[in-house]
Amino acid sequence: MAIVERVFSGVQPTGNLHLGNYLGAIVNFVKLQETHNCIYCVVDLHALTQGIDVWGGPAELTRNTREVTAAFIAAGIDPKKHIVFNQSQVTGHAELAWLFNCVARVGWLNRMTQFKEKAGKDRENASVGLYDYPVLMAADILVYRATHVPVGEDQKQHLELSRDIAQKFNNDFGDSIRSHGHNEGIYFPLPEPLITGPATRVMSLRDGTKKMSKSDASDNSRINLTDDADTIAQKIRKAKTDPEPLPTEEKGLEPRPEADNLVGIYAALAGVTKQAVLQDFGGGQFSSFKNALVDVCVAKLAPIAGEMKRLVADPGHVDSILNEGANRARVIADETMRATKDILGLIRQR
Ligand code: AMP
Ligand code: TRP
Repeated sequence: MAIVERVFSGVQPTGNLHLGNYLGAIVNFVKLQETHNCIYCVVDLHALTQGIDVWGGPAELTRNTREVTAAFIAAGIDPKKHIVFNQSQVTGHAELAWLFNCVARVGWLNRMTQFKEKAGKDRENASVGLYDYPVLMAADILVYRATHVPVGEDQKQHLELSRDIAQKFNNDFGDSIRSHGHNEGIYFPLPEPLITGPATRVMSLRDGTKKMSKSDASDNSRINLTDDADTIAQKIRKAKTDPEPLPTEEKGLEPRPEADNLVGIYAALAGVTKQAVLQDFGGGQFSSFKNALVDVCVAKLAPIAGEMKRLVADPGHVDSILNEGANRARVIADETMRATKDILGLIRQR
């Protein structure tokens, strides 16, 4: 019953998986497989929280769920050794979210910046689900009592909320937790964010002060994981820069967000430091640097795009991976739900 180290993370099936998702999240998912038991989830219930214009309707949701699954596998996640599934197949997520709704405080949710950004000006018209999104996210993680959560920088505040929920649950029900055999009075671990890796915040190719995003209206703002070599080349050649040559020192990138972003992307894809990139390209013009950037981008991403294409062409195979993953995830989630219900005094079927 002791808490074991376990990794959980999720990606929404809302289309346009991009280089930011890859470098900020998926690369780390792949790496953590070497050291941890990992659970990677396509969070389809989260996708429903925004308007249908965002998630695209039923056929798109199905297609995008398979596409994210394909991206996981094409990037190197092993669904046999680890668990890959879609959230809605394991009812424990939604069920635990309800219990956590009664732990989380309205004041906590009111501070969530992502809700404010996504709801925009018309907050009255946002779905209740969008408001409650971070509570479902806490449930995703804690229904597996996961201890480590690899995410991009933008999810930091949500992870803090997950920790607050776990802590309040442990505090409020400490006596009951102890009487159910957890002698330290801790049932849920406080999950740690892993915001690491080469690029925790990849910026838009059109504006170095805005994050690269699935929902940006301009497709030229991002490199999609499904883009072919020509499209990648075109987008990088069109990427915004400034008129100065590249600096020779990393601190010279500070006031130049677009240059900083492109150098950061190169460094992340090539597995070197930004300083090393500047050693090779500092003092030179953007045009020759961009050619080299196209080459590393295509070398890294084209094989993934090819494998994704092959996988999504066989939806039966992708669905069988998700089914198998869900069966294994459910075993863990069901155990947590039983224990949580006992701790709360909810009578369950025996
Ligand atoms: P989402 O597409 O919102 O489901 O995000 C999936 C994962 O990608 C999360 O861990 C995000 O933090 C991460 N992510 C999204 N956009 C970026 C970005 N521009 N740079 C780095 N990581 C990102
Ligand atoms: N909110 C995350 C995002 O938009 C996706 C997500 C949902 C998630 N549940 C999670 C990430 C649990 C980590 C752990 O990127």
